[in-house]
Amino acid sequence: MSRKGKVAVIGAGFYGSTTAQRLAEYDIFDEVVLTDIIEGRPEGLALDMNQSRPVEGFETKVTGQTTGTAGEGYEAIAGAGIVVITAGLPRKPGMSRMDLIEVNARIVRSVVESVAKHAPEAVLIVVSNPLDEMTALAAKVSGFPSSRVLGQAGMLDTARFSYFAAEKLGVPVGSVSTLTLGSHGDTMVPVPSACFVDGKPLASLLPADEIDALVDRTRNGGGEIVALLKTGSAYYAPSAAAARMARAVAEDSGAIMPVCAWVDGQYGISGVYLGVEAEIGSAGVRRVVERDLSDSELDALRAAAEAVRAKQADVASL
Ligand code: APR
Repeated sequence: MSRKGKVAVIGAGFYGSTTAQRLAEYDIFDEVVLTDIIEGRPEGLALDMNQSRPVEGFETKVTGQTTGTAGEGYEAIAGAGIVVITAGLPRKPGMSRMDLIEVNARIVRSVVESVAKHAPEAVLIVVSNPLDEMTALAAKVSGFPSSRVLGQAGMLDTARFSYFAAEKLGVPVGSVSTLTLGSHGDTMVPVPSACFVDGKPLASLLPADEIDALVDRTRNGGGEIVALLKTGSAYYAPSAAAARMARAVAEDSGAIMPVCAWVDGQYGISGVYLGVEAEIGSAGVRRVVERDLSDSELDALRAAAEAVRAKQADVASL
């Protein structure tokens, strides 16, 4: 198998460490670099992951690096083609993602300044919350072309929707395809018209009120897990989603994925980072893909854009 390139994961908490593990286990990279400001944590996790290589049979090397808030240690990510940014606080029960905006804006700003300096050619995949605002902030602070800065949310929200639909219908998850667009929050836009089970419209298999219940559970999917865990938020499904996005970039696959991308005219919306479908390649977003939406779905997507627009403008001053 040929391996190439270096991918970095900033933040070695639950989300970052599971993302690094998934990326390493793909066995397609030369190196996965994992960093954190907690002294020794990334080095310890990297050592542990490397010791799993003989068992799992992958050769990708995992490097751990403690970093300082003034950018010390960031030389380790030099040359990375992809950087996944997971640094930041997770929610506590009862918090909305938006409650994290001030503290995570400070963290994401300082991380992105160092990333842009040491990996100026990288594609940035942001996962820190509130997602749409942190992605917009990363784009501003990095100065990278907007196509090279994207956020992970739609892959996760869509996966949650598909899982809930499969569970409800008692069918394999692989037979279900669903879609969510919009923000990673209250104005998430599940798109029932794009939901199918073995090619049949979801609407032909479930009554509208049951689809509405799945949509509500999807919209609150992260909060449901935060409430159960009591400390910390979800990371298995989120890391699966982020790692697949990074893989699509690494392999220049052209896969069409729901991601947080810069929208410039599509759906009559401009100048905002928003959850849409996009074709992903080695340079990040090749193009935003527009599909036919019902009138109510289009209205909801436009409302989502307006809901995140003001906060994205403000976030640069936080
Ligand atoms: N640079 C690097 N790492 C940092 C920095 C920084 N400036 N500031 C904080 N971190 C690290 C923390 O030390 C911690 O190890 O980020 C990590 C966050 O890990 P967790 O608390 O376990 O949170 P996690 O579940 O990984 O979520 C990370 O993703 O889903 C979002 O809302 C979630 O914003 C949160 C992020």
